[in-house]
Amino acid sequence: MRIVLVGPPGAGKGTQAAYLAQNLSIPHISTGDLFRANISQGTDLGKQARAYMDAGQLVPDEVTIGMAKDRMAQSDAVNGFLLDGFPRNVGQAEALDVMLKDEGVKLDAVLDLEVPEDEVVKRIAGRRICRGDSAHVFHVTYNPPKTEGVCDACGGELYQRDDDSEETVRTRLEVYHTQTEPIIDYYRVQGLVVTISALGKVADVTARAMEALKTSDEG
Ligand code: AP5
Repeated sequence: MRIVLVGPPGAGKGTQAAYLAQNLSIPHISTGDLFRANISQGTDLGKQARAYMDAGQLVPDEVTIGMAKDRMAQSDAVNGFLLDGFPRNVGQAEALDVMLKDEGVKLDAVLDLEVPEDEVVKRIAGRRICRGDSAHVFHVTYNPPKTEGVCDACGGELYQRDDDSEETVRTRLEVYHTQTEPIIDYYRVQGLVVTISALGKVADVTARAMEALKTSDEG
């Protein structure tokens, strides 16, 4: 399957993508993770992206679209993928349509995760991420590690993302409403949008998402 995951910052896209990608045997492709990997490796691409990310703004399309295209061209994505954080504006959605058309393939669904803004703010404020290879995501209240500040999966140190400060989160939410939400209408016209509530336990949201994707596939 070829799926786009959309939802506000902190909706749980990364959390759900990990489970959905495993259940569906497709790679999880997160442009945010790709940018963060480039930043930690000190690449030119990472240097270009950093200032935009720290400010909560979108990285320019010229940088983002090429990076996403290169990742989607890798062998593990030939038969499907789960895109998390891409496309993020109508220009990127149009570019993705061109890429897919060139390959003679189509998207199967756009999964829209709906979460009220106050919940999103709570989720982001408590998020902690492992610096180690597992890059596991925790939440200080909703999904705490067994030992404070230490990753259960690999023992790595947990940290708070630079762009998770209150001020930057406000900007990211505004950017989501003005630039990313319009892609939901763009895809609605194509009959691809499936909206689910992302409230409740992580496993319940995954089950809801799997059911919605199954129904959209049958329809
Ligand atoms: P990106 O990394 O994509 O960030 P985002 O969209 O803001 O989303 P987040 O990673 O903040 O949240 P999430 O929805 O994945 O939530 P998570 O699962 O972690 O992008 C970052 C930046 O990169 C952008 O601002 C931009 O600058 C740049 N960028 C990326 N893509 C781009 C593009 N295409 N174009 C241009 N620029 C781009 O969950 C959040 C917390 O909630 C966690 O602590 C988790 O444990 C907890 N949680 C999850 N689910 C639940 C639940 N059901 N109940 C309780 N807690 C939960």
